[in-house]
Amino acid sequence: MRLLTNDGTHDEMRPLVQLKAIFSKQLPKMPPEYIVRLVFDRKHVSLALFKGSMGKGKVVGGICFRPCVKQRFAEIAFCAVTATEQVKGFGTLLMNHLKQCVKTRDVRWFLTYADNYAIGYFEKQGFCREQTIKKEQWDGYLKDYDGATLLQCEIHSEIDYTDTKGMLRRQKENIYRMLAEKLGAKVVHDGTKEGHRLDDPFDVPGVQSAGWTKEFVERIESEQRAITSLQSQLKSILDDLMNTKFVWPYLKEVDAEKYPEYRNVVKDPIDLNIIRARLESGVYYTTKRIFRDEIKLMCENCKLFNVNPLSQYHMTALKVEEFVMPRLAAIDI
Ligand code: ACO
Repeated sequence: MRLLTNDGTHDEMRPLVQLKAIFSKQLPKMPPEYIVRLVFDRKHVSLALFKGSMGKGKVVGGICFRPCVKQRFAEIAFCAVTATEQVKGFGTLLMNHLKQCVKTRDVRWFLTYADNYAIGYFEKQGFCREQTIKKEQWDGYLKDYDGATLLQCEIHSEIDYTDTKGMLRRQKENIYRMLAEKLGAKVVHDGTKEGHRLDDPFDVPGVQSAGWTKEFVERIESEQRAITSLQSQLKSILDDLMNTKFVWPYLKEVDAEKYPEYRNVVKDPIDLNIIRARLESGVYYTTKRIFRDEIKLMCENCKLFNVNPLSQYHMTALKVEEFVMPRLAAIDI
């Protein structure tokens, strides 16, 4: 793994040319001239992953980024791994090394416009749609891309990103230790006899005495099934809402620059981008009421800021409520 910048030397240019070829191939929608311009631009840096020895090895992937140190963020311009090496963990390895590397430059956020089909990868690297970086901090420093989603990843200085496996192992050990202390789990049961097959997990020595019962497990499973079913119905309502003509004011957060007084009036802003991300997380909307309250809050916010009932914004709020509430009421969970 090596950081590369265009300093005009053969040593840097050779791998940069290889990396540019990978970006061009893996990101066919990006104009090749644009990729060349950014990869060889001296404000951009690329982290390249080599296969084979560093000097003679071949570049198999990389991330091209532009650090905005004053603004404390770095924009990821391109990220790709050569086709034959994808889904082997190299993309994760690259991102972890990049986090570790920018940490020392006091960069606290990554921002990137991700292609929709790569969002899954970025989410697994800790990127999300919700932003903790203030818009004023990046506005005007980032190029807008059509058909791409702006994602953010916060970088924590206390994490050693090159040792994520060790960190997870230690966390797991700590959780087990704390649980054992809390549950007073000091009894060590004999294991099952070798070759003896158990058909019922409740026959495993210690399972029942630890308080597990079939009824309890069935209840948890049935609750989980109900939540999954609820969320799929909420998704369908949200998808239908997104296709209506009156939903446009709610698709993104209200532009604080355009409406500077908005944050003074609306104390708890929310929009459909946030609601969708929460729904996609699978853990947030565990009841219909939580979802309903957030849609209601979104509409109330709109009415509060646009008090005139005849204003087009106020009217869209009424329409959203009219659209969503009966559909929610019809969900039988
Ligand atoms: N969509 C959803 N999930 C994905 C994707 C994807 N496109 N690619 C990888 N993942 C998942 C993997 O399944 C894996 O999941 P797991 O941890 O549960 O097993 C996880 O993400 C990490 O996968 P890696 O093997 O570490 O990633 P990989 O080496 O394949 O690199 C990358 C990911 C860079 C997206 C690669 O697949 C690629 O080059 N794709 C084509 C180019 C591209 O789409 N780049 C991003 C465009 S946006 C931009 O550049 C700003």
